[in-house]
Amino acid sequence: MSKLIIANWKMNPRTLTEARELAKASDIEGLIICPPFPFLEEVGATIRKAKLGAQDLFWGEGGAYTGEVSADELKDIGVEYVIIGHSERRQNLGETDEMVAKKIAAALKAGLKPILCVGETRAERDAGKTGSVVQRELETGLFLTKNQKSSIVVAYEPIWAIGTGTPDTPESMLEMVEFIKNVLNPQSRALTFSVIYGGSVTSKNAESFFRHKEINGALVGGASLKGEEIKKIVEIGKKYESR
Ligand code: PGA
Repeated sequence: MSKLIIANWKMNPRTLTEARELAKASDIEGLIICPPFPFLEEVGATIRKAKLGAQDLFWGEGGAYTGEVSADELKDIGVEYVIIGHSERRQNLGETDEMVAKKIAAALKAGLKPILCVGETRAERDAGKTGSVVQRELETGLFLTKNQKSSIVVAYEPIWAIGTGTPDTPESMLEMVEFIKNVLNPQSRALTFSVIYGGSVTSKNAESFFRHKEINGALVGGASLKGEEIKKIVEIGKKYESR
């Protein structure tokens, strides 16, 4: 299995023209590009080798949900992956584990591949609560779908490492991969999953993570806003196998 690299553009760039340029500059096989909603279609029409992902969805199938976007609507315009439960949504918009569970269920029902984000704050890590936080986010986030045959991506993103320039260490990530497998494997035989790392990944540190076959890829924010940089990260990933 090759590494899975996901570009999370967050609320960037500012204009459609810039989005088109960035999509062109980032169009490489093995990359999943997740632009803001208004740019999805244009980015989808621009890329030839990369795949399209969204940054969120809503669980309703249609109807009276002002401002929301459904899984089917995303699927219909060529979206294949969807980020769910990013810490910026949990922290700034009050997204709960229960909401995450409904979004995961809606994504799977529509045939989208969910990227479930989990991770602890600095205070939680310092208090020795990393394991319990991640376990709760996984178990509650997947409780609606655990008995159905499904395939997901788990992105471990320690919140203190996001956008700070200070990533977690590969050693700590390897422990987390083990931990996540131990939480998920006994729960469900129907679930297959890969585990990727997110939080200040750049072309300078990507190799230290990708060398380990247990680390299946990366969720990249800031560094995905430069075409050259994200392409470099994908190329580094291609040198290594995943398990
Ligand atoms: P970062 O963001 O690479 O800028 O740290 C990662 C993310 O939030 O997905």
